[in-house]
Amino acid sequence: MSVKLSVNGKQRELDLPQDTPLLWVIRDELELKGTKFGCGIGQCGACTVHVDGVAIRSCITSVASVAGRAVTTIEGLDPQGNHALQQAWVEAQAPQCGYCQSGQIMQAASLLQANPSPTDETIVTSMNGNLCRCMAYGRIKKAIKIASAQEAGDE
Ligand code: FES
Ligand code: FES
Repeated sequence: MSVKLSVNGKQRELDLPQDTPLLWVIRDELELKGTKFGCGIGQCGACTVHVDGVAIRSCITSVASVAGRAVTTIEGLDPQGNHALQQAWVEAQAPQCGYCQSGQIMQAASLLQANPSPTDETIVTSMNGNLCRCMAYGRIKKAIKIASAQEAGDE
């Protein structure tokens, strides 16, 4: 059955079973490989993307449930890869192996969109579901604070 959705600003029409996980649509049908598979059960955050600007776990989201909605992946966060968080991630040297990082950035982007100046406690709570096997949590938090300060300075 055909499903229409917008991915990174492009309209897509896909002929797929309605219960196909959005993660497999993103990776296998659209070949956007920045979004990662970790657990497949909504517990690690590696597959985080935005639907209408809000972070969701694409491994447990059916493609049918996002029909007509706007999906954004790490590739679509900023056309040039210069989102404040992406720049802050470089400045803080946040990644180690990198596997979890696109999900971390998408979760953080959703947080800063809702709350541009989060407290340390809010950052920890909001990022709690995004796991990092390399334990880069301190640098991830630092990067979010850099981006938050940058955004505040731009206002
Ligand atoms: S792969 Fe989706 S939450 Fe882990
Ligand atoms: S940087 Fe390796 S899993 Fe997070």
